[in-house]
Amino acid sequence: MSHYYANAEKDSLELSRRKLVEGIQDDISIDRFHRIGIRNGWKCLEVGAGAGSIAYWLSEQVGATGHVTATDINLRFLHSDEYSNLETRKHNIESDALEENAFDFIHCRNVLMHLENSLNALNKLAIALKPHGYIVLEEPDFSTFPAEGQPQNSLASVRQVFRYMEAVVSSKRMNLYLGRNLPQALDNLGFEDIVIDERYTIEHGGSKAASIHCRGWSILMKSGTASALPEEVYASAIEHMNDPGFSFKNAANVGVWARKSAGAVPKLLASL
Ligand SMILES: C[S@@+](CC[C@H](N)C(=O)[O-])C[C@H]1O[C@@H](n2cnc3c(N)ncnc32)[C@H](O)[C@@H]1O
Repeated sequence: MSHYYANAEKDSLELSRRKLVEGIQDDISIDRFHRIGIRNGWKCLEVGAGAGSIAYWLSEQVGATGHVTATDINLRFLHSDEYSNLETRKHNIESDALEENAFDFIHCRNVLMHLENSLNALNKLAIALKPHGYIVLEEPDFSTFPAEGQPQNSLASVRQVFRYMEAVVSSKRMNLYLGRNLPQALDNLGFEDIVIDERYTIEHGGSKAASIHCRGWSILMKSGTASALPEEVYASAIEHMNDPGFSFKNAANVGVWARKSAGAVPKLLASL
């Protein structure tokens, strides 16, 4: 059983949160894919496919001769009916086996940060790629959120809530800073032609990005294990995150892609 922190959320609520994330991140992912050039006939693996937008997009790109395998520990939001070249697979990247030298292209977004041993999973993905195949990893780095060194008092409560959430997620194995470790991990795994594309945005209260933070906080509040957060601090942070006059620097969206070399994949033992 996986410990994904939003597993217990009701379908409709969780689906709307996933759609918000897709609404912000899909264009960035697709822009990165265009830089690689997805080809007709490719065999693709979408790991932790969530609500499926990227798996569906890839299915359209690779055409009838291509194939997309979309995995997730929970298939509640994934449907393959509309795509004859799409296979959905209930699969835990931490514990289930995966084909070897089987895929031309592997994409994994916002998943590694939730795993107990993300490097082990990454090792498995490297082995699953064909030689010279592409891997695209996209994970956040929260070190910019909500930005230090700004004099706005309004940031104080948001910072305090974020510190509280940081304490809660550390007990849930989530790594909010994983994005920055990806280039080195791919280098250690012998990947070639590594490209790093890090994107930041300045957001305002009431934006999609602000809503995603509030929705994530609300899930974590239900399972909080850190010492109590004063209610008025939480209420103040939520108020700011809904106020269009409040601005904050968002977490970085770190995208890293690379090609697998022709040699054997080294087994890495350290953690990400
Ligand atoms: C934050 S969502 C990201 C969904 C999608 N990749 C995206 O960016 O829109 C994380 C997804 O990873 C899945 N997940 C978590 N742990 C997993 C595991 N061990 N193996 C496979 N999928 C996992 C969750 O069920 C969830 O759908």
